[in-house]
Amino acid sequence: MDHLLIRGGRRLEGQVAIDGAKNAALPMCVAPLLTDEPVRLHRIPHLRDVDTILSTISSLGKEVRHDGNTVEISCGGALKSEAEARYVEQMRASFLILGPLVARLGHAVVPLPGGCTIGRRPVDLHLEGLCAMGARIEEFPDHVVVKAEQLHGARISFPYPSVGATEHLLMTAALIRGETRITNPSREPEIGDLINLLRKMGAHIVVGKMSIRINGSEHLHGAEHTIIPDRLEAGTYLLAGAITGGEVQVMGVEPGHLRSVIEVLRRVGMSITESSETIRLLGEQRAEPGHVVTAPYPGFPTDLQPLLVALLCLGRGESLVEERVFESRFAYVHSLNCMGGRIRVIGRKAVVTGVNMLVGAKVPALDIRAGGALILAGLAAEGETVIYHPEHIDRGYASIEEKLALIGAQIERGK
Ligand code: EPZ
Repeated sequence: MDHLLIRGGRRLEGQVAIDGAKNAALPMCVAPLLTDEPVRLHRIPHLRDVDTILSTISSLGKEVRHDGNTVEISCGGALKSEAEARYVEQMRASFLILGPLVARLGHAVVPLPGGCTIGRRPVDLHLEGLCAMGARIEEFPDHVVVKAEQLHGARISFPYPSVGATEHLLMTAALIRGETRITNPSREPEIGDLINLLRKMGAHIVVGKMSIRINGSEHLHGAEHTIIPDRLEAGTYLLAGAITGGEVQVMGVEPGHLRSVIEVLRRVGMSITESSETIRLLGEQRAEPGHVVTAPYPGFPTDLQPLLVALLCLGRGESLVEERVFESRFAYVHSLNCMGGRIRVIGRKAVVTGVNMLVGAKVPALDIRAGGALILAGLAAEGETVIYHPEHIDRGYASIEEKLALIGAQIERGK
């Protein structure tokens, strides 16, 4: 069975080049559905999720040309209005094709994304927004049929600043008649990057304190854009340096996107220095106990919660980590406890009692970031750790074993 094999106990030291952000690349690969002109995206990361979204839009009639870390998406013939289930089922972000297809074609049939190990992952905010824009939606158990003679601008207010719903309705609003106002939108850096691309395509978008206003355009044109660096990948390597007591510098990042992560790492005793494009961590000591709550940006990112818990497993004293974004994002705790961790999950809180040592074990990666947490634990554990289902990890981390080996990890992929 495919697995990653890690021999733990080595300090990580060195520099890691950070790729383009997965969670910016995915919506940006959907945006070209809004135009027949070519869109060129630079710093596209080589990830399974990117392959999936490019296959999805290719199946809808787009022509995709990949050249290293650049992808050009252009018109490959008439757009199709029906997406194949196999793509959307694999990855939730494919659901974002729905609004742009309806804006272009007046109708679309798209499978509903499934839940996953971190929660039910509903799309009610996406669908309510499209309804407000005049879409007629028929929901079936596994797909939706959406029709609209003419979508129009709408006033939408989110009870929760959903990242995906903000991206979905931003892209749709950019190509429909009238003004759309989204109140309480997500403020993640990936949203700002998508807005930059849409503006280059001719969209009229104003970002206010409480809302984003979009004045729809009749036509959007092609554009060229370089994707922001992946703050989650950067945070992963900094935490890997911290858990191994090493010295790791991440290169080509935007420190401003990691303010909350840097603040937490300093709070638990790590020394961090930064320049305009790099962040350097020196893990001279075991982590001090902390109390961390995940929150929408600029709060501590839920996607680094599992990796932070792994670090705190080997910290001093007792820490508390609260997961306030997803309803069940502690499935990985069982595996960390099998490695010697002492973590108690009470509802959406994890109480972590620091131990002196973790021990290698055979454990399954359940999702991208849970897999990241197991890698960190394996890097610091005594002995060998085998992580099954590395395909989950490959969805969000490009060349992770090569990048870790370059800074001293003993890690290899096996069958
Ligand atoms: C994005 O997922 C990211 N994925 C996730 O990263 C990330 O964890 C999440 O945002 C939160 O930051 C991508 O960008 C591709 P949400 P998304 O809509 O858009 C509830 C990773 O590892 N909600 O902000 O699905 C939802 O249940 C992935 O890279 C509704 O109730 O996140 C959740 O509790 C994992 N109704 C909360 O909002 C809706 O219609 C946050 O979801 C939509 C969401």
